Amino acid sequence: MTYRIPVFLCALLASVTVLSPLPAQAEYADVVLNKYAEAAGMRPVIYPHWFHRIRFRCKVCHNELGFEMRAGANDVTMAEIIEGQFCGMCHNGQIAWSTEHCDRCHTGLPGLKSGIRGSNETSGPGRW
Ligand code: HEC
Ligand code: HEC
Ligand code: HEC
Repeated sequence: MTYRIPVFLCALLASVTVLSPLPAQAEYADVVLNKYAEAAGMRPVIYPHWFHRIRFRCKVCHNELGFEMRAGANDVTMAEIIEGQFCGMCHNGQIAWSTEHCDRCHTGLPGLKSGIRGSNETSGPGRW
């Protein structure tokens, strides 16, 4: 009986430590790509990194497709995408919906600058 309370407190403490190590954040949140879009009369592109990251391994994009792992570091043009490079490797109507759906990628509010929005830290398996 005398051990009941300390054991319970230990368990509570352990669960608190396990359950609340960090605030919840989407890893690598959203990336804005706006080197050319707005200047060419289109809205900036919002790239949801987390949405893609949970579906594909890092190396698919950061090795095989040649996306540099730094927001704003890539020169991506619409012509290359339509030819099947970068986003167009998948957004081709086969792996994912095609480039006809302009307004699914060009969703940013005018004036947004290229770069990451939200967390670019990871606490999960992507940490390296
Ligand atoms: C799969 C996502 C995606 C779709 C769908 C898409 N775009 Fe883009 N587009 C991009 C990205 C990424 C860029 C490069 C953004 C930047 O850095 O400015 C871009 C850039 C552009 C540019 C800038 C100039 C240039 O030549 O690169 C224009 C214009 C453009 N897109 C038009 C369109 C039109 C019109 C459609 C629909 C027919 C479309 N886009 C559909 C992702 C997309
Ligand atoms: C489907 C494609 C895709 C996958 C999968 C992917 N990324 Fe990315 N990642 C991108 C793109 C696109 C950018 C933005 C590049 C730009 O802005 O020019 C980016 C940007 C980044 C950045 C830059 C953030 C910053 O602050 O500059 C990091 C770090 C990163 N990715 C890490 C990862 C890791 C780690 C994984 C796997 C766990 C991963 N990515 C999976 C496409 C991908
Ligand atoms: C490795 C493959 C791959 C690459 C590369 C890729 N995507 Fe995607 N993307 C997908 C798939 C798969 C989906 C989910 C399609 C579906 O739901 O039908 C998706 C969905 C999306 C969505 C919708 C997200 C939502 O909430 O429904 C956006 C926006 C998007 N992609 C933009 C981009 C842009 C911009 C790029 C280039 C910077 C890009 N994608 C590169 C595979 C890819």
